[in-house]
Amino acid sequence: MRILFLTHSFNSLTQRLFVALREQGHEVSVEFDINDAVSIEAVDLHSPDLIIAPFLKRAIPAAIWRQHVCLVVHPGVVGDRGPSALDWAILRGEEQWGVTVLQANAVMDGGDVWAHAEFPMREASKASLYRSEVADAAVAAVTTAVERFGSGEFRPTPLADMPNPLPGCERPLLRQQDRRIDWAADSTATVLRKIRSADGFPGLADEVFGRRLYLFDARPASGLSGTPGELLARAGGAVAVATRDGAVWLGQLRDPDSDHPFKLPAIRVLGALAEQLPELPADHPDREPEIRYTEHGQVGFLEFEFYNGAMGTARCEALLEAYQEACRQDTRVIVLTGGPDFWSNGMDLNEIESADSTADESWRNINAIDDLAEAIIGTTTHLTVAALRGNAGAGGVFLARAADYVWSHSGITLNPHYKDMGNLYGSEFWSYLLPRCCGDAHAREILEARLPVGARQAAELGLIDEVIGNDRQAFEATLGERARAIAESADYPARLEAKATRRAADEREKPLADYREAELERMRMNFYGFDPSYHVARYNFVYKVPKSRTPTTIARHRRRNEPSMRDAS
Ligand code: COA
Repeated sequence: MRILFLTHSFNSLTQRLFVALREQGHEVSVEFDINDAVSIEAVDLHSPDLIIAPFLKRAIPAAIWRQHVCLVVHPGVVGDRGPSALDWAILRGEEQWGVTVLQANAVMDGGDVWAHAEFPMREASKASLYRSEVADAAVAAVTTAVERFGSGEFRPTPLADMPNPLPGCERPLLRQQDRRIDWAADSTATVLRKIRSADGFPGLADEVFGRRLYLFDARPASGLSGTPGELLARAGGAVAVATRDGAVWLGQLRDPDSDHPFKLPAIRVLGALAEQLPELPADHPDREPEIRYTEHGQVGFLEFEFYNGAMGTARCEALLEAYQEACRQDTRVIVLTGGPDFWSNGMDLNEIESADSTADESWRNINAIDDLAEAIIGTTTHLTVAALRGNAGAGGVFLARAADYVWSHSGITLNPHYKDMGNLYGSEFWSYLLPRCCGDAHAREILEARLPVGARQAAELGLIDEVIGNDRQAFEATLGERARAIAESADYPARLEAKATRRAADEREKPLADYREAELERMRMNFYGFDPSYHVARYNFVYKVPKSRTPTTIARHRRRNEPSMRDAS
């Protein structure tokens, strides 16, 4: 089927659906909702059988929905309407939520129902739920809706004919005043719910510590308490704030009035105020470290939960230290589990953007991430597994590939390319790792196509070795067992030896240092050369400058030649 996505941006949910429908054999093209004329032109160019709106912020023009069936993906249960569906669900403490696929008509979110899927809510941020449960439910509901449309026989159900009472209802835009924190009165649970209902966007606005700030990345600070609203302590980049009955950690803040009005670690944003706070030592029981090491039998698990998967210089250095320490343990396998939402998205572009010299910070960051990648590649004491519980992008994908085995569940999306960031050349030893796992031809195609890749396709390409389970929960449930099986397998010593032998042979053929030097030479040009493309692209990314047109990598209707990657796999 020829399908056109009309979408505000190519966000995670749109990428998941793009990958899923293409895997199902559909021809999917994407157009950003820039204005009515552009959308109408895209429909004319693509001549779709079906239009899907995975993520729209405004209504589809009547000139389109009157002529074509347009299916809108609404992140709410049947009957729910309005622009803040998930925000309200979190704030109201709903236990069940869902995704509804409706046919666009004159009433926003009021069209006939083609399909819906439900899921239990989890205590997590809006962005985390959106990338995981909402995306899974959307894939299920859209798949059903597309099949029903394809059958030619299905008639969607008007909302009025759905079983009553409907689980949802119309709700207005959720404003800042609807979730304002009353520090004196709100419990820790309420504060967390309010912040999470706005995290990642727009963030919860608050007048705290004498400033107007947006709060993100909140988690309970067990064991701490004080005068409500007061700063208590700091740990890593986070600060703890007292609530009525305890305290919360805030990992990220945004100061809209500062020179760097985007998300940054809380201690960076608070500056001198945070420096005065007592720092909880690394081994303090009340601390919620970003990097956690646990051991089960002969397997060491290294978790690194970095907000948005961004790996700045300091985080890379800390992770390298933790990794080296893990390598010194008397274990056989090290599993790098990243964070629950992202495994890694490479260098921290926000931190780079806020640096005095963005070129110098880029250079430090890429070197720090390369040091980590080099340590993983060069490990001869253990077998290593990158366990992708969440998505990975750019350098994060290649960092994962530095491990001996890469595992994931089927719901992840990878973006194994750098060029969208102003033609960034990339490092993380991709020029060594990628041809080795995918072959030269695929390696080139993967980088050039600049497309998201689902777990199944990633496995076909060799980017992932094994896809285990349909979602994160199923994956996590078997991860330990799978890693233990490697550690306890009779051929473990042989596998370890084979790895060391191969590494030594590779090193003789071309030393890792040469790969690194060649990649970094190109990166130096990106950072310090005459062409400012990387700096412009990074600025646009961090400041969320809307795209003025859809890239032809995904707007297939706007170019003549198809990319070969999907077709080759
Ligand atoms: N540094 C800082 N923040 C990052 C980041 C990075 N490397 N990668 C993602 N983020 C942030 C985004 O700004 C966004 O912030 P928000 O919480 O304010 O919304 C959030 O993570 C989610 O990213 P988003 O782009 O909305 O997610 P997505 O699933 O739609 O797209 C990627 C995923 C990986 C394609 C996209 O985030 C990306 O291109 N990231 C940059 C990767 C990169 O070039 N890294 C540097 C080279 S190694």
